[in-house]
Amino acid sequence: MHTVPAPAPAPDDTVCDDAGLAIRVRGLTNRFGSQVVHDGLDLDVRRGEILGVVGGSGTGKSVLMRSILGLRAPDEGRIEVLGVDARSGDPADRLHIERNTGVLFQDGALFSSLTVGENVQVPLKEHHRELPDRWHYELALLKVKLAGLPADAINKLPSQLSGGMRKRAGLARALALDPPLLFLDEPTAGLDPIGAAAFDRLIKTLQEALGLTVFLITHDLDTLYAICDRVAVLADRRVVANAPLHEIEQLDHPWIQEYFHGPRARAARAAVPPPSDRDATATTS
Ligand SMILES: Nc1ncnc2c1ncn2[C@@H]1O[C@H](COP(=O)(O)OP(=O)(O)OP(=O)(O)O)[C@@H](O)[C@H]1O
Ligand SMILES: [Mg+2]
Repeated sequence: MHTVPAPAPAPDDTVCDDAGLAIRVRGLTNRFGSQVVHDGLDLDVRRGEILGVVGGSGTGKSVLMRSILGLRAPDEGRIEVLGVDARSGDPADRLHIERNTGVLFQDGALFSSLTVGENVQVPLKEHHRELPDRWHYELALLKVKLAGLPADAINKLPSQLSGGMRKRAGLARALALDPPLLFLDEPTAGLDPIGAAAFDRLIKTLQEALGLTVFLITHDLDTLYAICDRVAVLADRRVVANAPLHEIEQLDHPWIQEYFHGPRARAARAAVPPPSDRDATATTS
């Protein structure tokens, strides 16, 4: 069994040069009053991968995502997203990040007074004013279908949808601008196991078909085992490990041991089909 080095080393830049990174975080510190949520956190997300981000509740996963997206100004640290400095304050850099990222927030964050179609059209109208309204509608319909919703969901209000459908509507909005980088915060939380597995397959299919990079915060062990290429573990105010699951499982960190060697992890591991079957499953919707 390997021991987690303390403090965690900076991610190994020799493994993947910066051109291969979608996100590069160095020395990130976030404080709320006297509470230190992140303290010198480093993280690399490689282009084209699904990175699972795990950690106990309150360890700062959502705050990390918000910092990367520029929705929260961190106290210290450098953040690069798709080759630009996310903290530069330059409107051109902000626009670059906004246009190239899609986000599904933990609470869904759909506008409750707008229909699903209108929600999906919000980023389209903001970033593609030049397109006629009819195109906004047609593009929204395409995304609604891509996210696995029936076409008639486009005219429904979020309150008229089930929780699982709301997640898909949030995904449709996240995909509105065809972003190469997708952020998902607990996308399968609250879904039944069948709905969660279907959502996992959808994410995997989209990643493979569209070449997306996915930053996926989750507590769902089935999701980690089914679709994540690597897993970053938040603990002790840092990313203590960022590696494929079979390597993470071997690390001698108390939280990792408890999380990845409990009965739920054993069940999730056992449910993973062999690679050939997995490929077939991933393309089935
Ligand atoms: N706006 C804020 N003001 C003050 N404290 C905050 C704020 N946002 C987050 N925090 C605190 O930062 C810590 C990390 O919060 P965060 O939402 O990132 O946790 P998380 O890892 O996403 O947890 P969960 O798994 O429950 O979603 C928590 O203690 C939270 O209370
Ligand atoms: Mg959270």
